This record gives sequence, structure tokens and C-alpha cells, in this order.
Amino acid sequence: MQGRPLSFRHRTALAVGAAGLMAVTGAVFLPGSASAASTLGASAAERNGRYFGTAVAAYKLSDSVYQTILNREFNSVTPENEMKWDATEPDQGRFTYGSSDQIVNHARSRGMKVRGHALAWYSQMPPWAQRMEGAPLRQAMLNHVTNVATHFRGQIDSWDVVNEAFADGNSGGRRDTNLERTGSDWIEAAFRAARAADPNAKLCYNDYNTDDWSHAKTQGVYRMVRDFKQRGVPIDCVGFQSHLNNQSPYPSNYRTTLSSFAALGVDVQITELDIQGANPTWYANVVNDCLAVPRCNGITVWGIRDSDSWRSQQTPLLFDNGGNKKAAYNSVLAALNNGQPQDPSSPGNPSSSSSSSQPPNPGGGCSATVSLNQWNGGYVASVRVTAGSSPINGWTVSIPQAANVTNSWSTTRSGTNFANVD
Ligand code: XIL
Repeated sequence: MQGRPLSFRHRTALAVGAAGLMAVTGAVFLPGSASAASTLGASAAERNGRYFGTAVAAYKLSDSVYQTILNREFNSVTPENEMKWDATEPDQGRFTYGSSDQIVNHARSRGMKVRGHALAWYSQMPPWAQRMEGAPLRQAMLNHVTNVATHFRGQIDSWDVVNEAFADGNSGGRRDTNLERTGSDWIEAAFRAARAADPNAKLCYNDYNTDDWSHAKTQGVYRMVRDFKQRGVPIDCVGFQSHLNNQSPYPSNYRTTLSSFAALGVDVQITELDIQGANPTWYANVVNDCLAVPRCNGITVWGIRDSDSWRSQQTPLLFDNGGNKKAAYNSVLAALNNGQPQDPSSPGNPSSSSSSSQPPNPGGGCSATVSLNQWNGGYVASVRVTAGSSPINGWTVSIPQAANVTNSWSTTRSGTNFANVD
């Protein structure tokens, strides 16, 4: 059950001042009214609008087992290879979007989000770009970012603008590539070009082996993101690929890593999760850590069945080759369903950040958003009413008879079933 709808109606009016934001939180608890979600995407969505996604290959969309699982379980997709530079610009200045459009259309027509992957990356470059250096390569890279981000403008939730630009090992520095040799400001140049081309997409830096907070590579990326935020470089999120295996095990400080980046003022996303052997405990740990960090928007696994994995011999995914749910699937779904509800008034939570990214209300009216945290036995609904360009003149949130309002601010309450300003 999705929880009972809360209804809103405008009322007459009293000015409530010139502030641009007035808010009420109706916190509603209904013992016994909620049931556990039965799919990964639905359960994630109930936790402050998070997503649970997967990498998708366009050529597999005609596989009925594959498509059935995709459409049933996931509410976000990442094209596995189809948006990469070699796929989208095979010859300089000739752009091809057939298979990437196919995935985007499949996803968006079913209400799934799309993560764009990846605009600028040293790997899977077309041969013509691999051969370039210096100013011509910088120009070609920026042209590529602009063209691809423009093609998909308005359709992408989050872009991996730059992928894997940091070196492995203990240096904490950049990876030596022909892109890096164009000048170390190439990363911020790519972010600025992406922002100009698609102003509403979240722009992410994405990398691997950045899960352990104590590792030099993690710290190097952290310093770059901190510097970008301080200087106003347009970055919104950091992607953690999280390809976990015996060499890169789940680190006990993973939650610290996520929360430390989030504290810089960026969202965090787990973008390519797979775990050697699909250890159910590690999978649950990753889910619990994401749920514990309000700015963790969601988790993407890097494929559906083990046979779809780029590391299929490691059997690292949630479904076996036949499309059956593995123990890791049950562990992930249980962790999602059992995740503690968050404080809905927490300023950094995903619902407030996503509502703030909505277009401003043009008139003097108000808009309302509801986010739901649901768990076995009840839910908390957070209702935020936001004024437009001028003060709002009174409104009412009416709440189902059976519900209790447990908290509110900037409001008065009348009875148990109304919260309003008037
Ligand atoms: C992998 C794909 O899964 C493979 O099909 C392809 O052959 C190579 O790339 N980091 C990334 C992803 O950012 O794009 C990579 O995907 C896996 C590692």
C-alpha cells in the first residue's frame, strides 16, 4: 500500500510574510497500515524517493526474461556502453544515438530515471580521440560533452560527466591520460560544458576504489570535490562505482565515505554495484549505508543476471543466469524494506533536495510535495508546502481521519486532521 493520499486545498487568506518558503510537516503514523514493498525499485522509492537501478544493454531489451525483470524490479537505468564516447561519436563530428535513445525511451516511457554514463572518460574513447593530444583534444572533448548532453537535455536525472580521472595507488593524484595532459582543469571545463548544455541534470564525478575512506584515491577525489564546491564549479553529485571483490572488499567505513562527501554539499550515488560472489551481507551493508545517508539518492547494480555482468565469472549480481532471485536479492530487498525511516524534516534529505530542484512556482500560489517513509507497520508522510514568487495567503493540508499529526512547523494546527496557516 502506498499510504493514504493527503489532500491540499487553497483557502483564503492572510499574508504570512515575505519569506519565499513556508512549510508544514504533517508527520503521520498509521500502525498496521503499511506492507513491505515487493520489488527493489518500489521499496527504494518509498525511502524518500530513492531509486534502485541497473545497467542496461540495448541489445538485451528483446530478451523477454531480461526485460521482465528490468521492468518489474528497477526504477532507474544506466546504459552500460551505449552513451560512451566511442558509441556516440565514432567519427569526429558524427554523432550516433540509436541504441542510447532506445534505452532512454524504454526507461522513460515506464517512469524510470536515466543515469547518463559517461561524457568524458579516458577509456572507450573512439580511436580518433585516443590519438589526439593538447588543445585539439580539449576542444574535441568539450564539443563531445556539449553535443551529447544537449541531445539528451531534460531526460537525464544524473550525468557521469567525468569518469575515473584519479590514479590508483597511494598518490591521491590524477591518472595520467591524454585528457589530463590537456591541462588539469579539463575536469571543471567538462562540468561547465555539461551544465550549459543540460542545466537540470545533476552532474556527477564517478570513480572506483573510492569506497574506503582511508584510501589515498578517496581522499584525492574528496579534495577535488571540496575545491569545486568552494570555487563554484558546477558539481552536484559523486558516484561510487563500488565494484567490490576480494581485492576491494566492503570497507567498514563505507558509510563514513558517503556521509563525508555528502557533507561537502553534494549528493552521493552508488553507481555500478557488484560484489564478487554476491555476498548477501555486503549487499545489505551497502543498502543500509545508503539509507543512512540522507543525500544518498540511490543504488545501481551493474547488470541484472550474473550472465549479464562484465565480470560474470564472479557471479556478482542479484539474479542467476536463469533470472531467478539469489540470496543477495532477498537480502537487498529486506534491507530496503527494513530501513529505518528518516527524519523527514532533515534539511539535507533527498526529498527536500529534489523539491528544491523543481522549477519555481511562477505565480503567487503554492506547491506541495509529499514524501513517504514506509516500513512494516506504518509510515511517516512529510508534506512541504512552498510559496511561489510572492507570499502565500493561507492554505490547508487535510490529513486522513485515522492519522496523527506528530510534528509541524511554521503552521498552526486545528484538530488532529488539519495543519494550516490562516
Ligand atoms: C564496462 C561494461 O560493463 C563492459 O560491457 C565494457 O566492455 C567495459 O565497460 N567502470 C565503468 C563502466 O565506468 O563503464 C565499465 O563498464 C565498468 C567499469
